[in-house]
Amino acid sequence: MEIDEDSLLAEQISYYRARAPEYDRVYAEREDLRKLVALAGDLPVAGDVLELACGTGQWTGPLAARARSLTAVDASPEVLGIARARVTSSNVRFDRADVFRWQPPRRYDTVFFAFFLSHVPPSRLGDFWNTVAAALAPGGKAVFVDEGPAAAAREEVASDVRRLDDGSQYRIVKVLHEPAELTGELAALGWLADIRPRGEFIIGIAEPRSVPVA
Ligand SMILES: C[S@@+](CC[C@H](N)C(=O)[O-])C[C@H]1O[C@@H](n2cnc3c(N)ncnc32)[C@H](O)[C@@H]1O
Repeated sequence: MEIDEDSLLAEQISYYRARAPEYDRVYAEREDLRKLVALAGDLPVAGDVLELACGTGQWTGPLAARARSLTAVDASPEVLGIARARVTSSNVRFDRADVFRWQPPRRYDTVFFAFFLSHVPPSRLGDFWNTVAAALAPGGKAVFVDEGPAAAAREEVASDVRRLDDGSQYRIVKVLHEPAELTGELAALGWLADIRPRGEFIIGIAEPRSVPVA
C-alpha cells in the first residue's frame, strides 16, 4: 500500500511531539552521541546561524556559543518548550515551523541541522536543499550531522516504525545516506559537499555552487 507522503510527514511530527519527554534519553545513553555534540566546536559554524529541527536543544547551546545570533526552528512545540528551558542565551530565539512548508524570512551565514536530513523523503530532497539555499547568505555554509549507513545494524535507528514507552507506534521517514552517494545527489542539486563518515554518523559541509532556483 502506498502511504500518502503528507500524512507520513504529519505522523513524523506527531511522533516527535509525543516523544518530547523521552527524547533526551538517547543522549544520556549514548556516549558516541555526546562526543559528536562535543565536536560542534570544530565545525564551521559562525555568524548568524539557523538551526533546522532543533529538537530539545542538545546542539543549540554549543552552536550558540559560536554564533552571533542563532534562530532555532522545529515543528514540535513540545520539544521547543524543552529547548527554551535548556538554552537561555540572549542570542538565541526559537520559532515553530514545519520546514517542508516554510520559507526562511532572512539569510544566515550558517544553516545547521542534526539528525533531520535522514527524515527528509527522497522526493523532497531537492525542495529541502532549495530551502536551505534560500536561507544562506552569499558565502554561507550548510553544516549537518546524521546517522550514516553504519547505523543500519541498529534496528531502533534504521526502522521507519517507532514505538514510545506507552506502546504507541508511529511511521516515520528514515534514509541512511551513504556519503559518496549523497555527495553526488547534492552535486546534481547544485551543491559542493564534503561528507565524511565518523563512527555510525556522517558529518557534512555543503556550499551552493550557484544562485538557488527560485
Ligand atoms: C531526530 S530529531 C533531531 C533533533 C535535534 N536536531 C537533535 O539532533 O537532537 C528530529 C527533529 O525534527 C523535528 N521535525 C520533524 N519534522 C519536522 C518538520 N516537518 N519541520 C520541522 N521540524 C521537524 C522533530 O520535531 C524533531 O525535533
